[in-house]
Amino acid sequence: MRTRYAVEIVDLHKSYGKTVALNGLTLRVEPGEIYGLIGPNGAGKTTTLKILCGLLKPDKGVVRVYGYDVVRERLKALKLIGYVPENPVVFQNLSVEEFLRFIIALRGIDSEEVSSELSYYLEVFDLEDKRHKLLGELSRGMIQKVLVTAAFLVKPKVLVMDEPMAGMDPSSQHAFKREVKKLAAQGVTVIISSHLLDLVEKFCTRVGIIHRGRIVLEGSVDGVKRYATGKPRGSLEEVFLEIVGKGGER
Ligand SMILES: Nc1ncnc2c1ncn2[C@@H]1O[C@H](COP(=O)(O)OP(=O)(O)OP(=O)(O)O)[C@@H](O)[C@H]1O
Ligand SMILES: [Mg+2]
Repeated sequence: MRTRYAVEIVDLHKSYGKTVALNGLTLRVEPGEIYGLIGPNGAGKTTTLKILCGLLKPDKGVVRVYGYDVVRERLKALKLIGYVPENPVVFQNLSVEEFLRFIIALRGIDSEEVSSELSYYLEVFDLEDKRHKLLGELSRGMIQKVLVTAAFLVKPKVLVMDEPMAGMDPSSQHAFKREVKKLAAQGVTVIISSHLLDLVEKFCTRVGIIHRGRIVLEGSVDGVKRYATGKPRGSLEEVFLEIVGKGGER
């Protein structure tokens, strides 16, 4: 390993035409952390995660995954990542099992090798009876669980998940948190964006608040709650509203 960081993002800039999405964003995540990226709509979370996963090129800045530069050593970096996108485009005419086996094969993993894990996650997410159902026939929450399963099955060292719990029912959210914690305990690094602040507060080992394209506050949940005054605020939500204001959008 060439660095102590699983993910290192330094001075990232990205604009879409005249819209500045990222404006000098820096964050570093150590192996086994569950890092929660929170911030208002349009803050730059998805843009950051897409750059981290090689789907967008930064205008400026460096992104490394276990020391591999995602632009210059793209394949080596991307092989380490499992990604749950914000707006999934899935193959409507593949069954759940076909889709999962397809994703596994794309990553060069023998699907027999992960057959038992595949069955395990279908069971955990209450999808076993949907194994042969087409993706086009699933509900939003079910699709989300299939995408999370796909990201788990590629045996990532870094799990990047953009709003992974969107649409998940409470028992699925519970199972999701339990499984992510298990992976993190095995050394998998997790970066998760979410608007569910209660959940982030209980679940993440570290939190970064992103606002207007940069991290404006970062630390443990307790550290973030004590920011500036040293006195703990009642909740992460309170801190969030103080920092980004009640109308968070730019
Ligand atoms: N494809 C695009 N073309 C033009 N502008 C874009 C594009 N994608 C994002 N943006 C803009 O970049 C900024 C950051 O968007 P981004 O999707 O990264 O925010 P986000 O923090 O993920 O928001 P949300 O909480 O709504 O998911 C916003 O101003 C958005 O309008
Ligand atoms: Mg987003």
